[in-house]
Amino acid sequence: MTTDVTVTDEAVASLEGTADPRLRELLTGLIRHLHAFARETGLTQAEWERAIGFLTETGKMCTDTRQEFILLSDVLGLSMLVETINGDRAAGSTESTVLGPFHMTESPVRELGANIDLVGGGEPCVVSGRIVSGDGTPLPGAVLDVWQADGNGFYDVQRPDLQPPGNGRGLFTTDAEGRFWFRTCVPSPYPIPTDGPVGELLKATGRHPYRPAHIHFIASAEGHSPVTTHIFVAGSDYLDSDAVFAVKQSLVEDFTPTDDPSLAREFGIANPFRHARFDLVLDHA
Ligand code: BEZ
Ligand code: FE
Repeated sequence: MTTDVTVTDEAVASLEGTADPRLRELLTGLIRHLHAFARETGLTQAEWERAIGFLTETGKMCTDTRQEFILLSDVLGLSMLVETINGDRAAGSTESTVLGPFHMTESPVRELGANIDLVGGGEPCVVSGRIVSGDGTPLPGAVLDVWQADGNGFYDVQRPDLQPPGNGRGLFTTDAEGRFWFRTCVPSPYPIPTDGPVGELLKATGRHPYRPAHIHFIASAEGHSPVTTHIFVAGSDYLDSDAVFAVKQSLVEDFTPTDDPSLAREFGIANPFRHARFDLVLDHA
């Protein structure tokens, strides 16, 4: 007969026929930790029902353009933990951080120098740099996928009535010297979506929903491991209290106020503007 003492071992033993050894390992760990959690906290029937209700609502909130489960993983710090334990990168390589839930549409292919801010309204800026290998060798033909929220803190998929698809997004290919550059608006801090169960969780725990200002990137190049990362705007609010725990000091960059006629001409932008300049360093695969 199953008792509270033997149920854990019985549930683990039920996995004996699992053909995939890694699946068995993961499920075994999950059962053991979930059972330990229930024992340790003295989880009540009512609390477990409430948790199931919460997870059900989380699932119902998911659509093609909304991923409430990723958001839940993010606010619990699990996304950042998984990112960190798998982000074993050489010293000096660009650090990774969370993907987030808004990389769900393909970024439009754009020419170097294009403006990804299709609606305007934010403070104009240029983002430029190189994609290089660990030893500093520039990587021509590397691909940089970029996405960011608009000056009001919303992604195109959140405001399809106000932003054209692809606003704030671009897929760029580096030139013969491994360089990339594009125009955009300076991002601002924004709240992660709070109109679903994750928002309720933040409210119940007295947490704010804000992320510091940032731009997302995935940089990839042949023979190298891709990196999923952000750059954060130096001096932004919430750098020390990101709702999803994703800030790494090495990813904080100055968006320098610039009023330089030759730079403005080079980037096809009117003075004054802000300029973020940094290299993305990839490890060999
Ligand atoms: C984002 O930066 O797009 C993001 C990351 C985690 C949760 C919500 C939004
Ligand atoms: Fe973001």
